[in-house]
Amino acid sequence: MKRALVTGAAGQIGTELVTTLRDALGDAAVLATDLREPGPRHPVLAGGPFRLLDCTDPTELGERIREHRPDVVFHLAALLSAVGESRPQDAYRVNLGGVMNVLEAAREEGFAVFTPSSIAAFGPGTPPDPTPQDTVQRPTTMYGVTKVAGELLCDYYHLKFGVDTRGVRYPGLISHTAPPGGGTTDWAVEIFWAAVRDGRYRCFLSHDVRLDMMYMPDAIRAALELMEADPRQLKHRNAFNITAMQVTPEQMARAIQERLPEFQMGYEVDPVRQAIAESWPRRLDDTAARDQWGWQPEYGLHETVDDMLTQVRTAEEAREPAPRVG
Ligand code: NAD
Ligand code: SER
Repeated sequence: MKRALVTGAAGQIGTELVTTLRDALGDAAVLATDLREPGPRHPVLAGGPFRLLDCTDPTELGERIREHRPDVVFHLAALLSAVGESRPQDAYRVNLGGVMNVLEAAREEGFAVFTPSSIAAFGPGTPPDPTPQDTVQRPTTMYGVTKVAGELLCDYYHLKFGVDTRGVRYPGLISHTAPPGGGTTDWAVEIFWAAVRDGRYRCFLSHDVRLDMMYMPDAIRAALELMEADPRQLKHRNAFNITAMQVTPEQMARAIQERLPEFQMGYEVDPVRQAIAESWPRRLDDTAARDQWGWQPEYGLHETVDDMLTQVRTAEEAREPAPRVG
């Protein structure tokens, strides 16, 4: 990989992926793009080139591709699960339309494509623990529908046109640099900021919903390692199950209380996101990823909680105090 273009670059994953790519490839080699202009101090604006790009517009996409000439496009632009349930037509248009436009451009221009799928590509009829690499995929959310269809489209473009498409099924991602974008696993990020700022958090899922989770450094490394993997070893393409830890809100709260004993956890269950969470796997079987490209997570629950609390505390201390009134 020498030159990369990232769509949806101002989001939770893109913000950290762009920084890592720029460290590895050089600032000018990584074009960050997004539908929206991030704030002036956003890391993707500070470190290298940024262009506005609506991935549903194939003309604009083609222009950005021909300007930058990437050999890999990390296509991250999407609407996440909770937003997708409130705006299903938009989720269909952005998530599937965007993948289709990127694949068509890849067919014409010859670049490789990384597109993340999700635990949301599974549904209530899937074996939840462990969820095999190849199994029933009948999701009950629009987000999940677009993720399954996206996986299939990416495989189709690989088989039919030889496009180098690769992807992982990310679990819920925990990070501290950019906020999550409206998913069912957002609680696992919000809880840290609430713990440090207020000493309490009210979770929108019930105490006992167990879901697959991963800390962002592992998620970024997974994307890069998969794109660097020897294609002859890849029997699968779109998309590999990967996982790092399985956590309920209660377990996460307990892990935080071990470090912040005064932290209080409450629950106010949102029925929409609770139903989504209950339809998802408890634990993905990531044997195929381990066998085919050497996937290994580095962060479990306790390493993640330690680092998140350190990072969030540091960010809070650096925050400018609110101006005094009067
Ligand atoms: P996010 O919501 O934080 O960021 C998505 C970005 O896409 C936003 O910056 C948004 O402005 C941009 N965007 C929306 N519509 C666009 C359009 N039409 N054109 C261009 N940009 C557009 O999402 P994320 O968490 O960074 O997720 C990135 C990818 O990873 C998505 O495909 C998502 O489904 C997948 N994923 C994320 C998680 C997670 O926990 N964060 C888990 C599994 C899979
Ligand atoms: N974290 C994502 C969501 O909750 C899963 O893809 O939507």
